[in-house]
Amino acid sequence: MRRIIIADDVELNRELLRGVLEDTYLVEMAEDGEEALAKLAEFHQETAVVLLDLKMPNMDGYTVLEEMRGRGWTEKIPVLVISGEDAAEAENRCFELGVADFVHKPFEGSIVKNRIKNAVDLFAGRNQLAQKVEEQAKALKERDRIIQLQAEKLREGRAFVKLMMEYRSAMLEVETRLKVLNDEFSIEYNRNPFESIKSRLKSPASIYEKLERKGFPISVESIEENLTDVAGLRVICSFPDDIYRLADLCTRQDDISLIRKKDYIKYPKCNGYRSLHLILSVPIFLSDRKKYVKVEVQFRTIAMDFWASLEHKLKYKKDVDEADGIILQLKACADSIEELDYQMQEIRDRIDKSRG
Ligand code: GTP
Ligand code: MG
Repeated sequence: MRRIIIADDVELNRELLRGVLEDTYLVEMAEDGEEALAKLAEFHQETAVVLLDLKMPNMDGYTVLEEMRGRGWTEKIPVLVISGEDAAEAENRCFELGVADFVHKPFEGSIVKNRIKNAVDLFAGRNQLAQKVEEQAKALKERDRIIQLQAEKLREGRAFVKLMMEYRSAMLEVETRLKVLNDEFSIEYNRNPFESIKSRLKSPASIYEKLERKGFPISVESIEENLTDVAGLRVICSFPDDIYRLADLCTRQDDISLIRKKDYIKYPKCNGYRSLHLILSVPIFLSDRKKYVKVEVQFRTIAMDFWASLEHKLKYKKDVDEADGIILQLKACADSIEELDYQMQEIRDRIDKSRG
């Protein structure tokens, strides 16, 4: 049986409450606030609920509540104030101090019993939930720790270091070829098909995390075999037609081959995401041989890139308020961006034509 602490300076009140509650709880009596706190200090681990009068000698109910809050007890133990105080102010002050319920004197024993049951059940549910959340957070942290540890192991291996060097070289190779095309275009047609290139090598931790998530073995061979996005380039273009022109010129180079293409511009994702993704196989020249390495290239317009970075933020913030509304608004923006991109392209064409 769990304990209930009844704090009231009037003996009759205490006895009335004991009468209805002693078959459910081990009853602890307190004649004032100080005694109530002393009982709590002794029994707070096994106390199911506290019934608290406000006006008591030595220490009043408000002070008990403040002390309880300071020690984190009001979060774990429901407190029901039972008071003759009628003013709304008093009741509000109690709720601000974290009480679960407020019962006015004179009280009806059976009603108090039911209200106690409600408060206890509610707190039990809430505490269970809080415990679950805490456990999940702990498990996630542990998972993160293991991933970091494994990633460290990967990072230390010579074969892994060598493989990363190869991915870096392949990234440089593709970047150089794109830059050559850009230079040629600026001389031939007086304009640049892309605005900027960003490159990134996947970190050991995300390599490990992805292999594990997809159920692939954790090894250097497995990285080469199963991952296509360790080396990644993002090419930001001004106009949609530049994207296709560049992608075409890239894949037409006779030593580059196209492994996979995902055209999220022609077929946008439901969230509105637009980009052209290519997985290319690119040769790099090592001291003793030529090797083909996979590189993921994402082509987007400036506007699509602006959209994707904002949308990416939403993905990593699971607790965003109004996420549904934001998703809809993002989708509408993606559609406007498409229209804008094609209008800008049309304007560019008109300017080009009028120049002759
Ligand atoms: P990943 O396991 O995420 O690499 O997906 P995937 O292998 O199915 O490839 P996909 O071509 O669909 O996506 C590759 C990359 O494109 C992702 O890692 C992101 O960088 C980007 N991407 C894809 N979809 C979205 C999206 O909806 N929003 C944003 N912001 N980026 C996306
Ligand atoms: Mg990826």
